[in-house]
Amino acid sequence: MSEVDLTVHLTPDDIVRGLRSDVRTGLTATPKSLPPKWFYDARGSELFERITRLPEYYPTRAEREILATRSPEIASLTDATTLVELGSGSSEKTTLLLDALRQHGSLREIVALDVSESALRDAASALASAYDPVSVHGVVGDFTQHLALLPGSPVRLVAFLGGTIGNLVPAERAKFLSAIRDVLDDGEWLLLGTDLVKDPETVVRAYDDAAGVTAEFNRNVLHVLNRELAADFDVDAFEHVALWDEKEEWIEMRLRATRAMEVHVPVVGLTVSFVEGEEMRTEVSAKFREDEVAAELADAGFTLKHWWTDEEKRFGVSLSQAGAR
Ligand code: SAH
Ligand code: TRP
Repeated sequence: MSEVDLTVHLTPDDIVRGLRSDVRTGLTATPKSLPPKWFYDARGSELFERITRLPEYYPTRAEREILATRSPEIASLTDATTLVELGSGSSEKTTLLLDALRQHGSLREIVALDVSESALRDAASALASAYDPVSVHGVVGDFTQHLALLPGSPVRLVAFLGGTIGNLVPAERAKFLSAIRDVLDDGEWLLLGTDLVKDPETVVRAYDDAAGVTAEFNRNVLHVLNRELAADFDVDAFEHVALWDEKEEWIEMRLRATRAMEVHVPVVGLTVSFVEGEEMRTEVSAKFREDEVAAELADAGFTLKHWWTDEEKRFGVSLSQAGAR
């Protein structure tokens, strides 16, 4: 088996330091909130994989349909030698792209970056055996902080799939897309997966499934705080809430305290009170329209070259190129 080279930009120490600072800010704010990257410890990554297989969670299947149809075209259009995947998770859908690039004859290198070390290790070693002798670099890092440190040489195709861009609010998205643009040379590529605006019932169901897997995933962030910061959240006293925000066109995930309680977070010296029914925001997942995606890409210095959707127009994948038309 070919070997995986793993670079860790986020050590367990960095992670606890970042978590402490986010918890201090988020739990002392009104309303309370927590940033979404803390969902993804080993258990969180497993729960997310279960979400992708739920009947209600259409984004994974819709995006896979697009990649299954368009990957050969993406390979010929880009001639990419390096596939760089951000927030790669299991990299399961990515194999459609990789197969097409290998078939096309251009693939030399794979770079996968994720905040979840456990998910990344499994994915990177699976890619290394499947695509031997292509070199595989795993990078444990934060895609909002570590883009400038990524390995890989041109022609690069950066893939950001799963609709994860929707987990950033507009100002964060602008900063993130510009940061990708900055590491690319003119003419290199970005493949971006965006979930699309549709009837709210379908979206809400995707984030509030009947089996309760999404609820478990949402509450997992409290287990992370209990373990990493010795907090004493009564996890079962919080319920999962998924709300469609008509104006922002995003789904908002919250955790609602079902009773009044005091929570201690000794590692940051905090005692936090919740009133009964109080809701804490844990995630947004924005849904997009084509013109909006094109405009955000243009603002960041990309030119949108292709826009594809699945048959039912639930999900969009765009291919854009760094630089001018
Ligand atoms: N790309 C996969 C996984 C999407 S879920 C798919 O399409 O199915 C989002 C992924 O992004 C998770 O693997 C999570 O660990 C990772 N992630 C979330 N926030 C991150 C951050 N700030 N930096 C790096 N990775 C992050
Ligand atoms: N990137 C995924 C999305 O926005 C992450 C996700 C799926 C998620 N289900 C969730 C995040 C539930 C928080 C809660 O679709």
